[in-house]
Amino acid sequence: MTYLVTGGAGFIGSAFVRLVLRTDPSARVVNLDKLTYAGNLENLEAVAANPNYRFVHADICDAEAVNRVFEEEKPDAVVHFAAESHVDRSILSPAPVFETNLRGSFTLLEAARQFKTPRFQHVSTDEVYGSIDAPHEADESYPLVTSSPYSASKAGSDLLALSYFKTYKMPVTVTRASNNYGPFQFPEKLIPLMISNAIADKPLPIYGDGQQIRDWLFVDDHCRAILAVLGKGRDGEIYNIGGSRSLANLDVVKRILATLNKPESLMKTVTDRPGHDRRYALSSEKLMRETGWNAETDFETGLRETIAWYQANAAWVARVQSGEYRKYYEQNYGSR
Ligand code: NAD
Ligand code: TYD
Repeated sequence: MTYLVTGGAGFIGSAFVRLVLRTDPSARVVNLDKLTYAGNLENLEAVAANPNYRFVHADICDAEAVNRVFEEEKPDAVVHFAAESHVDRSILSPAPVFETNLRGSFTLLEAARQFKTPRFQHVSTDEVYGSIDAPHEADESYPLVTSSPYSASKAGSDLLALSYFKTYKMPVTVTRASNNYGPFQFPEKLIPLMISNAIADKPLPIYGDGQQIRDWLFVDDHCRAILAVLGKGRDGEIYNIGGSRSLANLDVVKRILATLNKPESLMKTVTDRPGHDRRYALSSEKLMRETGWNAETDFETGLRETIAWYQANAAWVARVQSGEYRKYYEQNYGSR
């Protein structure tokens, strides 16, 4: 089994690559990644020397490079993680989001169509359903109501992928996961940003009233769900992947501070994010029913493990926070 993983140097993609190579000695993994600010080969040190692993430095928008990899590797499955994945950056600068998330996804779908790839697994997000009023949860037929350039681009690429199933009978599956957390997450997203700032005794920027609700999913549970869909998912189907753990942002941040034994006075209310979705909530009933998947890591255990990882990997954090990150931080938080 040869997996062509796109975006395998990012947070979730690298967890997927490590999981597959750790658990399936017969698997070959080809990781195609552009190494944007979010791509980091340090995340793959554990597998770099594995003979079943190959890294290809390329942009998913580059049809020639993409086709070459399909020609050389004849992958059995594409697992498409590569994306501009951050809402705040998509607000500051939407162009790369549309380039990678839409044109890049299109380029990959075209290659998979040409090479008759037996499986195309498109990795998406619960953000495509927009903000959902309590107590409702989105199932896979819930309408797409996007708020940010990021979520709009993901909804667009979901529809494009599903159109390749309907029109060309391509074996496409789409997964929509809730907010992930865990080791190796770039410290622009809520949990790693709050952990790294708290460790450094820097202010923790809370958007608005901090009562926005997210459903938290440990990254390895997400990766296992993708493997379950690759194994048992039906062509042309969408599968939600939720962590079944809804928490208000303020609650998450307070737990991080308590675990690190830091004062709540580090929290600082800042101007809210434009178009901020109030609440995400997913039903994963279909995934559980059809594949037997369950989230294995409860939030307390996963958060403890994540905090311990950031404490033990200060050098990784320092490296990713140098250079470009400082510019982004100033741009996003400087005048908030
Ligand atoms: P990430 O930002 O950590 O990593 C993205 C990776 O894609 C990086 O390695 C980057 O170098 C690569 N990349 C970006 N543009 C590329 C291009 N044009 N060509 C090739 N490679 C490119 O992202 P993540 O958090 O690991 O998210 C992975 C996927 O999961 C995304 O599709 C995202 O939309 C989806 N998702 C993320 C979450 C979450 O909570 N992080 C939740 C649900 C779904
Ligand atoms: P984020 O990790 O960016 O994920 P998403 O917006 O894709 O759900 O943000 C999670 C929540 O945390 C969201 O409600 C915005 C909020 N947030 C803050 O309050 N402060 C911050 O500095 C960041 C990055 C996020």
